[in-house]
Amino acid sequence: MDPRPARSNGGPRSWLIGVVAVAAGSLLLAACGGGGNGGEADGGSEAEGYPDREITFVVPFAAGGPTDTVTRLVAEPMSAKLGQQIVVRNVEGAGGTVAAGEVANTDGDGYTMLMHHIGMSTAPALYPNLAYKPLEDFKTVGLVTTVPMTIVARKDFEPNTMQDLVTYVKANADKVTYANAGIGAASQLCGLLIEKAMGVDLTEVPYDGTGPALTDLVGGQVDFMCDQTTNTTGQIKADKVKAYAVTTPERVEALPDLPTTAEAGLEGVDVGVWHGVYVPAETPDDVVVKLTDALAAALTDQAVVAKLAELGATPAPAADVTPEAHRQLLQEQIDLWAPIIKEAGVTAGG
Ligand code: MLT
Repeated sequence: MDPRPARSNGGPRSWLIGVVAVAAGSLLLAACGGGGNGGEADGGSEAEGYPDREITFVVPFAAGGPTDTVTRLVAEPMSAKLGQQIVVRNVEGAGGTVAAGEVANTDGDGYTMLMHHIGMSTAPALYPNLAYKPLEDFKTVGLVTTVPMTIVARKDFEPNTMQDLVTYVKANADKVTYANAGIGAASQLCGLLIEKAMGVDLTEVPYDGTGPALTDLVGGQVDFMCDQTTNTTGQIKADKVKAYAVTTPERVEALPDLPTTAEAGLEGVDVGVWHGVYVPAETPDDVVVKLTDALAAALTDQAVVAKLAELGATPAPAADVTPEAHRQLLQEQIDLWAPIIKEAGVTAGG
């Protein structure tokens, strides 16, 4: 099965998604009900004078990590376009679901935005008692980026190649430690794929984000992890970590010497992380239009484009920086992951 959704123009949605082909199948990485985008007549006047005060941009993981990096990158040009300060606030916990739950319950007045990633689509299947419904409790503003992941280890970890890593992990599964950012984090989903592909059960060490996880990896406190290039590229280039592979079908320009997982001999670990911006469902549509315009401006800002490229990330194409394209992808991804996660038997409990 190829779980990659088709693009709205009919071609392959080549810039996104998380996939995994595992053994016989695939294990891997909102409906216009209630508060869907465009579901209400907003009267067209709510955006008058908006914004007239500071906007909060909530990041569902720790400062210094990949989601934080992408958010801060776009926040500055968005702020310039909107003419108001944007303050980034990190609300960590439960693989990004604490922040999403909090934003779902804030006023839908355009003064609180949420940056989230692929975890927005996997959380409903992973968390049986999730406090929000991604498609009903939020409006989508637009897609932001796709980011490959990399499998990296502390510098003095014994295995030097992917084949060494597979052999070592299999022989030492009871003592090897794997860092991630909690259930629903991209690093956790990638870890599930790695476990499946290697046929092992890893000891997971959860953090509030892969920012602090990578710090501990560099410090030698944990053995290995799978993390977005926005976080790892600098450490790989500075030779602070050992890198085994990038988790996309193609190599990444920012790390041209790093083989893909397939090239390195680890089949079925194919993951790309997509990001999008959300606001509470009650946010007026004309306010969302202003935020979408600001996001689109940020993603064509040459400094942002250059920085994302340096970090191995790809800005969403203009056609996908819209509430509709974002919403469509979210729906597709929820539909994609629900059966895969169910089959994998992964859950955050009740
Ligand atoms: C993840 O694993 O989902 C991310 O790396 C979270 C983060 O931004 O720290």
